[in-house]
Amino acid sequence: MSAAERDPVDWDTLRAIALEATRHAYVPYSKFPVGAAAIVDDGRVISGCNVENASYGLSLCAECALVSSLHMTGGGRLVAFTCVNGNGDTIMPCGRCRQLLFEHSAPGMVLETVSGIRTIDEVIPDAFGPRTLEEYRQ
Ligand code: THU
Repeated sequence: MSAAERDPVDWDTLRAIALEATRHAYVPYSKFPVGAAAIVDDGRVISGCNVENASYGLSLCAECALVSSLHMTGGGRLVAFTCVNGNGDTIMPCGRCRQLLFEHSAPGMVLETVSGIRTIDEVIPDAFGPRTLEEYRQ
């Protein structure tokens, strides 16, 4: 049984924390604030916002800030995740950020998505990851 199944996720609260994070977004170029929030396997709740750059391609997605916060506040693995725009609407993590989330996911991690609650394996099937590298080394 996954961590999320043992302790059902309060998605309304997690979404509210993500929405609060959008208020800190630095988005002078896209004007599209994003807030991400997640529950860690020790029960911590973390969040992050997007931070853009005049060199557009260097912009940091909200998930980047969230993963930095994960490590800054003690590490662990993500068990539940959501991200929203400035209106509080759930959005999908971009492809790069699905890869980023996968790397730090607990088995069975769940995400609130535009098509309902999905596991990390559903949103990035057959993911390339640390195990791929480990298998090659052996
Ligand atoms: N963005 C995120 O923060 N996360 C995503 O998963 C999708 C896109 C941000 C990047 C950029 O600052 C803005 O949304 C518009 O693309």
